[in-house]
Amino acid sequence: MSGREDILRAAALIRAGQLVAFPTETVYGLGANALNAQAVERIFEAKGRPRSSPLIVHVSSVEMARSLAAEWPTVADELTARWWPGPLTLVLRKRPEIPDVVTAGLPTVGLRMPAHPIALDLIRESGLPIAGPSANLFTELSPTTADHVRRSLGDRVAMVLDGGPSRVGIESVVLSLAGGRPVLLRPGVIPQTELEQITGPLQPYQREGAADPAPGMTPRHYSPRTLLIIGHPPASGKGVYLFWQEPHGTASSIQMPADAQDYAAALYDTLHRLDQQGLDWIAAEPVPDTPAWAGVRDRLQRAAAQTE
Ligand code: TXA
Ligand code: MG
Repeated sequence: MSGREDILRAAALIRAGQLVAFPTETVYGLGANALNAQAVERIFEAKGRPRSSPLIVHVSSVEMARSLAAEWPTVADELTARWWPGPLTLVLRKRPEIPDVVTAGLPTVGLRMPAHPIALDLIRESGLPIAGPSANLFTELSPTTADHVRRSLGDRVAMVLDGGPSRVGIESVVLSLAGGRPVLLRPGVIPQTELEQITGPLQPYQREGAADPAPGMTPRHYSPRTLLIIGHPPASGKGVYLFWQEPHGTASSIQMPADAQDYAAALYDTLHRLDQQGLDWIAAEPVPDTPAWAGVRDRLQRAAAQTE
C-alpha cells in the first residue's frame, strides 16, 4: 500500500507532466495533469488509445469541478451531493482551459470525484485536476489492483500508486447533463432508477444504437484475451464457467457472487486471473436484466463482443 511519501512523489510527477497510475474505488486510473496537453498526449501513447476517445477528469471537490465546467445545472448539485465522492461521472460543457486532447475535441468534459483517499490526496497535493482513463492498454480489461496495472503498462508509467483492490470493481456511471435531457452514456453500479429519482426519466440506455452514444465506447472494450461466451459453455476445449446461480453439470465452474455489487467487485479480477491460465474459453451464466445488474451486464457483453 502506498504511503504519504509515495503520494507526494506522485504529485510532483504529475506537476512535472509525467504519468502516474492511481487507485480509485472503481478501477485504477492512468493519470496526467488535465491542464497540460503534452502530459495528456502521453496517456494516449502509453495506452495505444485512439485520440477520438475522451478522458474523464478527476477532481477533489465540487468546487474544482465547477471551475472546469462552463455550466453547472442545479441537477449537478443534487447528483454530486448524493454520489460524490463516488462512481458517477458527469458530462458537462467545458471551459476553454481544458485542452482539446482531453475531450477528443468535444465541447464537453467528463468530471468525477473518486471515492479513494489516495486518489483524492494525489489531486489535492498536485493542486491539479487529473485526466485519467482506466490504466490498461486499449481494449484490454480494466485493472482493479496495482499488479494488474504493472502487468499491463509496466514501465510505460512513471509510478504506480497502490491502494489495494478497487472496491466497486467496474467503471463509473457516465451521465451527460450537457444536452437538453440527461442521458445515461454508460451504466455502472448506481441503478438507473436511483439516478432518475433526481434527474427524472433518463433516455433508455442503448448500446446498439445507430449513432455511437459516447465517443470512444466501442463495443469491444474491457476484454480478456481469452474468448468469453455468455451462456452455455462449449462442449470442447478447456474452459471455466462463471455461475452465480447454477453450476454447469460437466464444465469446471466458479461461483460468482449472487449480489450485483459483489459480482461487479469480483468480475475483472476473476477475468484477469483466468486470462493467465491459457484457457480456450471462459463462459458466463447470463445475469439478470434488472437495473441493479445493468453495469455488470454491460461489461460482460462488451467483454464478449468479438468485433471492434
Ligand atoms: O470509473 C471510471 O470512470 C474510471 C476511473 C479511472 O475513474 N475511468 C474510466 O475511464 O473508465 P475510461 O477512459 O476508460 O472511460 C471513460 C469514458 C469514455 O470512454 C467516454 O465514453 C466517456 O467516459 N466520456 C468521457 N468524456 C466524455 C465526454 N466529454 N462526452 C461523452 N463521453 C465521455
Ligand atoms: Mg477504459
